[in-house]
Amino acid sequence: MSSDSLPSAVEEEQSVGLLSNTMEARAEHLKTRNYRSLYYFTTALGVGMMVMMLTWLVKHRGGFSWSSNTKTQFNWHPLLMSIGMLFIYGHSILVYRTGRAAPKKRLKILHALLHGTTFILAVIALKAVFDSHNYAKPPIANLYTFHSWFGLITAILFTGQFLFGFMSFLYPGLSKTLRSAVLPVHVATGTAIFVLALISALTGLTEKTLWTLDTGYAQLPSEAILINFLALFLGFFGVFVLYLVNDPDFKRTNLPEDEVALASSD
Ligand code: HEM
Repeated sequence: MSSDSLPSAVEEEQSVGLLSNTMEARAEHLKTRNYRSLYYFTTALGVGMMVMMLTWLVKHRGGFSWSSNTKTQFNWHPLLMSIGMLFIYGHSILVYRTGRAAPKKRLKILHALLHGTTFILAVIALKAVFDSHNYAKPPIANLYTFHSWFGLITAILFTGQFLFGFMSFLYPGLSKTLRSAVLPVHVATGTAIFVLALISALTGLTEKTLWTLDTGYAQLPSEAILINFLALFLGFFGVFVLYLVNDPDFKRTNLPEDEVALASSD
């Protein structure tokens, strides 16, 4: 073989570089595909949870009203809490992984909008439950169960996290160094508050089920079966959100344009 037909050192280096780029692109494609499949499955669990919640409250618990009937006013509480504090909050903490190819600034705004929506729904849900206690005849005591303690702490921490996150990362925004220092704390706290929301929802659902079905629960009527499935969907929706948010494979890597945007906002 003549020396002409042998690849030069430069050509060899180029082909190794090309191969490693192709392998990286393939690995990235696989990660995105795995993420998408799990994300759609998680969303399906969340949609199933909301449909079952709505069916339960309409079919078995009298539907919805506001001040005209405190019993049905209460029903807004579980519905809006599960839409806001679980479904929307869960999707909000996944926004950076779901939109890994989108510019960071846009994702930050979407993350804040979803959190803002959760906040509004949680306020209405709390007003519904407090009103349903205060205006009942006779009035029902407030804040005596551990569900209500967990729930209130969750709502307060969520509000603090939302305000602190907004001021640190969006407006007025901290310096780049401070933002990088605060980010891991923000991520850990946000995930912990989501776990607290799951605990609050499951304890709320348990106490409501035991109070309304009482000894009839053991006969497993259709309402009990519906609630049990609802609780399973709710719990596993939470487990899958936590898995997706914690797997380092699915973590978004900064795009070149993010670096420019981040540097210019310093
Ligand atoms: C993240 C979700 C949730 C949060 C943050 C939360 C928060 C709260 C809070 C702060 C209270 C106290 C209201 C008062 O004392 O007047 C409460 C009451 C109540 N919640 Fe929830 N809740 C959540 C989800 C649910 C769900 C899914 C149910 C299911 C039915 C539920 C059922 C109840 C019931 C029955 C009460 C009245 C009895 C009590 O005070 O424990 N909650 N909730």
